[in-house]
Amino acid sequence: MHTAYLHADEVVMNVDAWAGQQVLVVGASKGIGAALVAALLDRGAAQVWAASRSGACVDDPRVTSLTLDATDEPGLAAAAAQIGAATDRLHAVIHTPGLLQNDVLRPERRMQDISLEALHASFAVNAFAPMLAAKHFLPLLGHGERAIFASVSARVGSIGDNRLGGWYSYRAAKAAQNQLIHTAAIEAARKSRALICCTLHPGTVDTGLSKPFQAGVKPEKLFTPERAAAQLLDVLAGLTPADSGGFFAWDGQPIPW
Ligand SMILES: NC(=O)c1ccc[n+]([C@@H]2O[C@H](COP(=O)([O-])OP(=O)(O)OC[C@H]3O[C@@H](n4cnc5c(N)ncnc54)[C@H](OP(=O)(O)O)[C@@H]3O)[C@@H](O)[C@H]2O)c1
Repeated sequence: MHTAYLHADEVVMNVDAWAGQQVLVVGASKGIGAALVAALLDRGAAQVWAASRSGACVDDPRVTSLTLDATDEPGLAAAAAQIGAATDRLHAVIHTPGLLQNDVLRPERRMQDISLEALHASFAVNAFAPMLAAKHFLPLLGHGERAIFASVSARVGSIGDNRLGGWYSYRAAKAAQNQLIHTAAIEAARKSRALICCTLHPGTVDTGLSKPFQAGVKPEKLFTPERAAAQLLDVLAGLTPADSGGFFAWDGQPIPW
């Protein structure tokens, strides 16, 4: 799947599928996004565009930092133009921004906790940002070679898997994210049959986003960002265009809508 073994005389070389790839990571300043940038560099990526609101820099000549708010459409257009001017072979876009709580947004326990402001905040980052990223970056992936647009979602966005309830705005925004990217995958397949467009569930990962909600999580079920990034890169490396439009967990298992 993600790893090929080349036998040359007595030497066995492990060649990672990400070696030599040119990849854009959006949401690259912390959490899973930052771990993805580090993992891609470890695996021999040729070029990584690391986009974040802070434009945080990674000290590696293969990294180009971009300052980008994932909800800012002119900023997305400018980033796409910058990358398009630098290469005609972008191999993957991995979009990670997500929002579970902030000043106006708290994961709701009951519907009386819902506010329009919180719904707006959640949908802007969790649903609208990945769709705008698809609008602006998918054209860079239509070169005819295998290419991936992956949007990090969350299992709680699955309607079929929802037995607990609660977390209205995050659940609904992640469900909308899955639907928007699934719809984009159908359109993209008409333009390039080598394109894989999907959403991903990273598992429960020890980041700022999950910190306030880790109390009931068993230690073996709480992944480090490094482990989560490695698992997601493995899953993506194993997907084919036939998987496009799907929603996949950290272990490669499809998740019901
Ligand atoms: N951690 C988990 O257990 C877990 C579980 C399921 C799904 N997820 C999903 O995984 C993804 C990554 O989350 P994480 O755990 O790594 O959380 P995190 O450490 O809180 O990181 C969130 C990321 O989103 C970015 N972001 C938020 N609003 C943004 C905006 N307007 N523009 C650009 N970037 C923005 C942040 O960038 P700044 O540095 O600019 O704030 C940061 O890179 C999210 O989509 C989340 O929903 C996480």
